[in-house]
Amino acid sequence: MQAAPTRPTAQLPEPSADAQAHSDRVREAIVARITAANGWIPLADYIQAALYAHGLGYYVAGARKFGEDGDFVTAPEISPLFGAALAVQVAQVLRTTGGDVIELGAGSGALAADLLGALVQRDCLPDRYLILEPGAELRERQRAGLAQRVPDALARVRWIDALPPSWRGVVIANEVLDAVPPHVVVRRDGRWLERGVTLKEGMLTLADRPLHDAALMALAGAAFPPDIDYASEMNPAAAALVKSLALACVAGVMLLLDYGFVAGEYYHPQRSQGTLMTHYRHRALADPLLWPGLADITSHVDFSAIAHAGVEGGMRVAGFASQAHVLVDCGILDRLAAVGDPASPAYIRAVSAVQKLLSPAEMGELFKVLALARRVDAPLVGFATGDRSHRL
Ligand SMILES: C[S@@+](CC[C@H](N)C(=O)[O-])C[C@H]1O[C@@H](n2cnc3c(N)ncnc32)[C@H](O)[C@@H]1O
Repeated sequence: MQAAPTRPTAQLPEPSADAQAHSDRVREAIVARITAANGWIPLADYIQAALYAHGLGYYVAGARKFGEDGDFVTAPEISPLFGAALAVQVAQVLRTTGGDVIELGAGSGALAADLLGALVQRDCLPDRYLILEPGAELRERQRAGLAQRVPDALARVRWIDALPPSWRGVVIANEVLDAVPPHVVVRRDGRWLERGVTLKEGMLTLADRPLHDAALMALAGAAFPPDIDYASEMNPAAAALVKSLALACVAGVMLLLDYGFVAGEYYHPQRSQGTLMTHYRHRALADPLLWPGLADITSHVDFSAIAHAGVEGGMRVAGFASQAHVLVDCGILDRLAAVGDPASPAYIRAVSAVQKLLSPAEMGELFKVLALARRVDAPLVGFATGDRSHRL
């Protein structure tokens, strides 16, 4: 077999020989797709394969992903106070609706463990805690973590393979919508193009082709600022996921947490190259073709489009606020104060973690929480002071 062509990766930590061999296998599967598609696939298909191809993709194979020795750190990995605070919002809804908690993309299982632990303390356990996780390896990690951390609640946890046909209770998804593969649409000299991946001398290479998908063109035409050359993501798959969940909701609240903007900020003239990013060993890189299978590929969330999808599915926007506002409204600072002696190392660690979650310079402002509701009429506790739904 020919050695796989490499990309310039100066100053990045080199993958191990095993990891490189894995990435070569992912790359070969992608090359086969490109060849079968006559030499070009949309970036959305490339990302789908790089992240989720059966047995190979970043989220379904064994890459470390989360935490200090992975590629990125998410809020539940930073502090258990994140889940403990969100449990206040989840409990408020469950006391009205009863039913289940459904978590999409539960990652290492940290949020599930923290939520269940806090719901036990509040005597407000859901009937079931359902986890929809595409990654088989992640499911195993979640099961092991939950067995260790919340053994008494484990009997209520189930892993599901598809969206439930109907649900009552709470759906929660932290940093899931950013992991749904987007299309990248380009407008250059007034022509509509779609960014995709082709092969040039055996190397995966980005290439723009004329855009034929009328629905995608209509979406981009409505979103992009007028006149200028522009490239950005459109994510109909993320919107379709939220709309399906909304249609299936009998009574409940969907809590969608992620980094992103309202449409007016997302498709700002100055953001003319979009938000697509690759995360590899705590570095944010622009090249989505870097070591497929070993790196996360994400884009920011257009919360206006997601809210619109929820409303189309019959839910109402019950709140939209920064992560900092929601966590403070849910009492994270009281929980921090309860950690103990302010001079203790545990307290000092907790302060630093909460600072990361709340600081506008870190996660507090870029990360937002969107709440969609059906048959839950009371104002949601997490949006008491910071609601900016009117900006969606
Ligand atoms: C960035 S990770 C976030 C993990 C976790 N929620 C956290 O906060 O640490 C993205 C997760 O979303 C999952 N995911 C992606 N698409 C999904 C979908 N359509 N339904 C459910 N989970 C999905 C991935 O498998 C992965 O577990």
